Amino acid sequence: MKSLVRENDKLPWSSAPGRLHIVTFGCQMNEYDSQRMAQMLMASYCLTPYMDQADLIIVNTCSIREKAEHKLYSLLGRLKRFKCSNPVLKIGVAGCVAQQLGAKLFQRAPQVDFVVGPQGIYRLPMLMERLQGGNDRLHDTGLQGDFQIPYIDALLPRKGDVRAFVTIMQGCDNYCTYCIVPLVRGREISRPVEDILREIGSLVEQGVKDVTLLGQNVNSYGKNLSKCVDFPSLLLEIDRAFPGIRLRFTTSHPKDISDRLIGCFGSLSTLCEHLHLPVQSGSDRILKRMKRRYSRAQYLEKVKKLRNVCPDITITTDLIVGFPGETEEDFRQTMSLLEEVRFDQAFAFKYSERPGTAAVRFQEKVPEEVKSRRLTRLLKLQNQIGLEQYGRLQGSVCKVLIESCSGPKVTGRTRGNHVVNMEGREGLVGRLVNVYIERACHHSLIGTIIH
Ligand code: SAH
Ligand code: SF4
Ligand code: F3S
Repeated sequence: MKSLVRENDKLPWSSAPGRLHIVTFGCQMNEYDSQRMAQMLMASYCLTPYMDQADLIIVNTCSIREKAEHKLYSLLGRLKRFKCSNPVLKIGVAGCVAQQLGAKLFQRAPQVDFVVGPQGIYRLPMLMERLQGGNDRLHDTGLQGDFQIPYIDALLPRKGDVRAFVTIMQGCDNYCTYCIVPLVRGREISRPVEDILREIGSLVEQGVKDVTLLGQNVNSYGKNLSKCVDFPSLLLEIDRAFPGIRLRFTTSHPKDISDRLIGCFGSLSTLCEHLHLPVQSGSDRILKRMKRRYSRAQYLEKVKKLRNVCPDITITTDLIVGFPGETEEDFRQTMSLLEEVRFDQAFAFKYSERPGTAAVRFQEKVPEEVKSRRLTRLLKLQNQIGLEQYGRLQGSVCKVLIESCSGPKVTGRTRGNHVVNMEGREGLVGRLVNVYIERACHHSLIGTIIH
């Protein structure tokens, strides 16, 4: 659970009379959407880090796993009490659970005033007007196949951010058998190149130096656009237009990683040496049941090609354990894939059954305790591999972009996406410094700035 602004952020960002608090669950696309909602409402609301002082609370939700959905209900329970002490408080639910449940959410949580899906958020100012005009229980969960993300010309809700996300496409056409995303985010729609370039330009003007392009499957960018453009050519255009930035993207589907895209890691100076490439399983039998459309060998081949072009590339992944039908032997193949690839980081999840997905009908469900045991084994192995991978940087000097300061410490990031903590002062935020890496921890490094 993330709040859009933190207590130590320099407020106010807007001088509007209302106070808005946004809570974000889920992926970076939801974080992006939360920022857009704040920008669209900036004429009427300034952001507050204190939930109990808000006149409007928006919960931007995720439904990727059952647990994510439960977090929403427990938060809504807490918010109900705020309504008793503040009668003008309005509560809205946005994002993927909003899309999934629509008006049904009002029955389950009568304290909710409005529900907006991932496309509906762009009509939020109109919806707020209707709400203020006395209408209640409003919902906007339409999903149009030809929807275009509008360009929003407004300041970032967090002043001084060094990193920013830019959604370049939304939706997903892949329908992996376990995944709810295509059902709640709709079909794949790419944004026009001009809008993306303009948005990055505005971010750079506001001081952003590290840009991550977002989409559920960025590699299929451009499929629905009339102008003939694909993902590698979009990267090239951004690289040419903004040669001073650090450029990243996520998420990539292994089946769509082309040789041209791999080549970009060797030829574009803005493109950082990190690729998040979710593999999900190391067993061909399970990959087939998941409808991932690549084999273990094909995945390994792509990793090999990437490392040929860019030997130091950081490769991270997502994994699911306990997918229906996963035997001990299938699981062992996932474990052996971890040893073979040696990921720098892996996000592993127990399979969670999602309504409306194909895997709901699959037999041979794996018991919860088996899933838990497998997850523990997998995390133990990956923790050891991750620490060794991060440890390879020990004793080297890295270029680190400082992102934030807290007390006498600053935090930054390498091009390879390793988070580095070190001593430093506020004035370093936004600066690129040389850092001697002292030691590796789980998922971060500790270093000293050298002058
Ligand atoms: N578009 C990305 C993934 C988005 S969802 C891709 O295709 O790789 C992020 C991760 O959540 C997935 O990679 C997967 O590992 C996990 N996930 C998705 N559905 C899940 C489910 N039903 N149960 C458990 N994990 C799931
Ligand atoms: Fe889900 Fe698969 Fe689409 Fe990723 S590619 S969002 S896992 S359906
Ligand atoms: Fe969750 Fe929706 Fe993202 S389901 S992972 S918030 S696309």
